[in-house]
Amino acid sequence: MSRYLVTGIAGFIGSNLARQLVARGEQVRGVDNLSTGHRANLEEIAGQIEFIAGDLKDADTAAQACAGIDYVLHQAALPSVPRSVADPRSSHDNNITATLNVLLAARAAGVKRVVYAASSSAYGNTPTLPKHESMRPNPISPYAVAKLTGELYMQSFWRVYGLETVSLRYFNVFGPRQDANSQYSAVLAKFISSMLRGEAPTIFGDGEQSRDFTYVDNVVEANLQACHAPAERAAGEVFNVATGERITLNHVFATLKELTGYAGSAHYGPERAGDIKHSLADISGARAALGYAPRVDFKEGLRRTVAWYREQGSGSESRRARAS
Ligand code: UD1
Repeated sequence: MSRYLVTGIAGFIGSNLARQLVARGEQVRGVDNLSTGHRANLEEIAGQIEFIAGDLKDADTAAQACAGIDYVLHQAALPSVPRSVADPRSSHDNNITATLNVLLAARAAGVKRVVYAASSSAYGNTPTLPKHESMRPNPISPYAVAKLTGELYMQSFWRVYGLETVSLRYFNVFGPRQDANSQYSAVLAKFISSMLRGEAPTIFGDGEQSRDFTYVDNVVEANLQACHAPAERAAGEVFNVATGERITLNHVFATLKELTGYAGSAHYGPERAGDIKHSLADISGARAALGYAPRVDFKEGLRRTVAWYREQGSGSESRRARAS
């Protein structure tokens, strides 16, 4: 049994990771400032984990969180490209300063390895597809700059201090527990929840932009593989974590009509500032170094995700019915 710290444990990816670690019998500590995460995401495992409500922008919280830990899975972040366009300073503080605090604390605590949630946004609008780790990063939004800076710090701490770090560039992760209720929510969470309510989703632009949507279980698996892959192959490295399949928003909408039963059409609005057009990953690096392979494809992931949101919806209806 190893001791894991999941930062951002009350968030979408962090809580999915924590459930898997608990299921495997690992010892789990989590830290979260509950700014975008929710305690409800930890409901079933609350008694089996240690939880620190705190902010990693505070160095003492980071030190407390890392004490006695073997592996840090650093998922805590302030996500969203448009949020960072509206408020670049918060993105900087939460995504860069907090990450530096985690690295300093991990080094001081003698942590074995830090796995970092990096982002595909680092590539920007590179015309060549698929995107390969050897391509020169070209971040557009402040969010992309912040996430890329975190990667560079990961590499620096490996090169300068010998702290083992692995950066996983996530490509548009989706699945159960992704927050659908913020203006900054990710596209699939927003579309599924509005279509299940019978409301038209809004597609920004012509809908021909594409993403390599990645089901969250694949990301969980990649994190656990990244903890245990041999250091000669993984330490100081950056890997794409994706499905390796490119889906347009128009195709997403058509598939969701099938899965949700929504019969209406979509609204089309103006393109979003800072958006990139196409995203598709080459995942051969993660395959070779970590043994990563996406086990759940896009359509199956979407089915499971729709089923989860449907259950949440009917759950709240029955709660309302009981309350009345
Ligand atoms: C970006 C990153 C992703 C990162 C995420 C964090 C890329 C390719 N991806 O996601 O790795 O995890 O930030 O927040 O840079 N859209 C609509 N209608 C909506 C909402 C969104 O049409 O209501 C469109 C957006 O304009 C965009 C696409 O859907 O073209 C995906 O948007 P979103 O889910 O916000 O993610 P990215 O910005 O692609």
